[in-house]
Amino acid sequence: MIDPLRAAEMLGHRLTKNRRHLARWARREQVTCWRLYDRDIPDVPITVDDYEGALVIADCRRARHDEVLDDGWLDAVAGAVRDATGVVDLHHKTRRRMADRHATGAQYQRLGEGGAWREVGEGGRRFLVNLSDYLDTGLFLDHRRTRALVAAEAAGKRMLNLFAYTGAFTVHAAAAGAATTMSVDLSNTYLDWAAENLRRNRIDPRRHALERADVLAWLNAYRGPRFDLVVVDPPTFSNSKKMQGSFDILRDHVALLAGVARVAAPGAVIWFSTNHRGFALDERALPGFARPERSHDTVPPDFGYSRPHRSWRFSAAAGGQPRPGG
Ligand SMILES: C[S@@+](CC[C@H](N)C(=O)[O-])C[C@H]1O[C@@H](n2cnc3c(N)ncnc32)[C@H](O)[C@@H]1O
Repeated sequence: MIDPLRAAEMLGHRLTKNRRHLARWARREQVTCWRLYDRDIPDVPITVDDYEGALVIADCRRARHDEVLDDGWLDAVAGAVRDATGVVDLHHKTRRRMADRHATGAQYQRLGEGGAWREVGEGGRRFLVNLSDYLDTGLFLDHRRTRALVAAEAAGKRMLNLFAYTGAFTVHAAAAGAATTMSVDLSNTYLDWAAENLRRNRIDPRRHALERADVLAWLNAYRGPRFDLVVVDPPTFSNSKKMQGSFDILRDHVALLAGVARVAAPGAVIWFSTNHRGFALDERALPGFARPERSHDTVPPDFGYSRPHRSWRFSAAAGGQPRPGG
């Protein structure tokens, strides 16, 4: 049995240490939203994210913790976070693994109506986050560096953002001078949120389109101008009444990337990422492209231990054009 008081005490020490260590880095890099604690202690399976002074505690208990970590434990943990940081603006999310999500497809449901909306900054851009009502806040902090890398090569490009969520990649690319962007997502809620993020960054909607569609169907149907820069950051699994069948990253990534190659211009760059822990990139994915893994560059120091995602930058291999399809 884990003693809740002991766990809370260990957490307090670790938070103080992490804060001291990371605050210096965050100041230097002008990062204002960052992960303060990332399941560092096995007996304290939570994450704590700082959104410009408001803290989000995500409860990551798994089924195996249920008998030893009750809700009293969570209260003790929240108290320890408050004591160690002095922050009272605390929010709480349950990030339990959904064993039956293949059956329900429920990974993106709304959690509550707390309405804790905030505007925060990242790399000079502004983003609307919600700290209380959804499983995720609207800004995935582990992709902060990926967004900067994409922005760094976006100027003048036709950019495509697949599984665009709240449009964070799009905002960075558009603000960095992308000629056009196209953001595709299945969810009207997230596309409305993306539209608001674009508006807050004064991005012209006439050149920056948002499209509600199932990505695989959209890729098959698309006949417009090809894209020079593509971001593909799919969920591990999804199903919805709005799409045919389901999407499974392990099963479907070769077909997905083949679809991307069909809409990519010669010389295009494709950033692909997944947070599936057991993911193995299939050799048949994007034949003819150079495919260095870039996780080392994209995972930021505040996520150092947890390997939150893996990423690859695909580009036309020297001496030949990539073959479309796969
Ligand atoms: C993991 S998030 C993507 C994160 C996003 N790329 C970012 O970094 O902010 C998953 C998103 O994929 C969308 N989605 C899930 N299945 C989809 C599908 N088949 N077609 C289009 N969008 C889908 C969800 O609505 C959600 O916005």
